[in-house]
Amino acid sequence: MTTALPRDLSCPRIAPRKDGSLSLSRIVAGMWRMTEWDMTVEARIAFIEQCIALGVTSFDHADIYGNYGVEGLFGDALRAQPSLRDRIELVSKCGIKLLSSKRPDHTIQHYDTTREHIVASAEESLRQLHTDRLDLLLIHRPDPLMDFDEIAEAFTQLKRAGKVLHFGVSNFSRHQFESLDRRIALATNQVEFSPLHVAPMFDETFDGLQDRGVAPMIWSPLAGGRLFSAHDANAETLRLVIKDIADRLHQPFASVVFAWIMQLPSRPIPLTGSGRIEAIGVAVAGTTFRLPRADWFAILRAARGHEVA
Ligand SMILES: NC(=O)c1ccc[n+]([C@@H]2O[C@H](COP(=O)([O-])OP(=O)(O)OC[C@H]3O[C@@H](n4cnc5c(N)ncnc54)[C@H](OP(=O)(O)O)[C@@H]3O)[C@@H](O)[C@H]2O)c1
Repeated sequence: MTTALPRDLSCPRIAPRKDGSLSLSRIVAGMWRMTEWDMTVEARIAFIEQCIALGVTSFDHADIYGNYGVEGLFGDALRAQPSLRDRIELVSKCGIKLLSSKRPDHTIQHYDTTREHIVASAEESLRQLHTDRLDLLLIHRPDPLMDFDEIAEAFTQLKRAGKVLHFGVSNFSRHQFESLDRRIALATNQVEFSPLHVAPMFDETFDGLQDRGVAPMIWSPLAGGRLFSAHDANAETLRLVIKDIADRLHQPFASVVFAWIMQLPSRPIPLTGSGRIEAIGVAVAGTTFRLPRADWFAILRAARGHEVA
């Protein structure tokens, strides 16, 4: 984990939809935990600048992050330094209504994918982020009451107004993704995936996206930090296997995990979760090498606790 990173690290770019309409950095900086980072506005600007210097220009948000507070923290940085906006891509999400003192009208935690809520939530994200447009807006969770036609209409309305340039979903099944994608072109499905959560490889999520030429975005690629801290036998074994490969390849531990994820043919786009620029660099380093097939399968075997048949 102490392996030095190359000085000239530069994150490549990726078109999540193969038609090339949207371009993101190959690694996207996740902002979910930003309230925990306790940064001044100057520190937030410096962090965004350091990410851009590494080629990490895409930033992942949601209306609800930090109890409806993270977009505002990020927006304060954009207001203080407006020239940042045209150098980055902003991703946000909508559709969850949290119980929160900031939203006293919410009487129960629930989903809302009505046209009215999607449009209002996107407009509030624009206000909080101090911007006139989102590059990508995702429906955060599949809503049992969602109407695919209505979501497509909301997306079309936001696109016509120039308020949102591209759309996607998060945590959708293959069938849910394809149902909405038939109505309006989606750029991604953002799902949980890591060596401690391999389900999307086996439940058709990744296969379906690969077939459509759409790249998934990956949340919690380091299992929210549990890859480093979990003490159950499975996690301990997995950690030893990854560490052995990392030492042999002279790469940082987390770079091997990011490389393992990005090697999948559906072209997964991992999100980072850290406010440390070194951790973003380690993720970018994962774009610079591929794992030998035997090492890739050694991690899969340790992740699942058994060989492939
Ligand atoms: N769509 C969804 O439903 C959904 C759900 C959850 C998250 N997300 C998105 O995904 C992003 C990433 O998720 P995540 O934060 O769970 O990602 P993650 O990378 O799996 O976990 C980040 C955590 O791992 C720790 N970590 C990173 N490198 C480490 C190292 N070398 N040693 C020890 N700990 C290390 C970080 O601690 P430090 O801060 O100390 O580095 C942080 O607490 C979020 O920011 C958010 O944008 C989306």
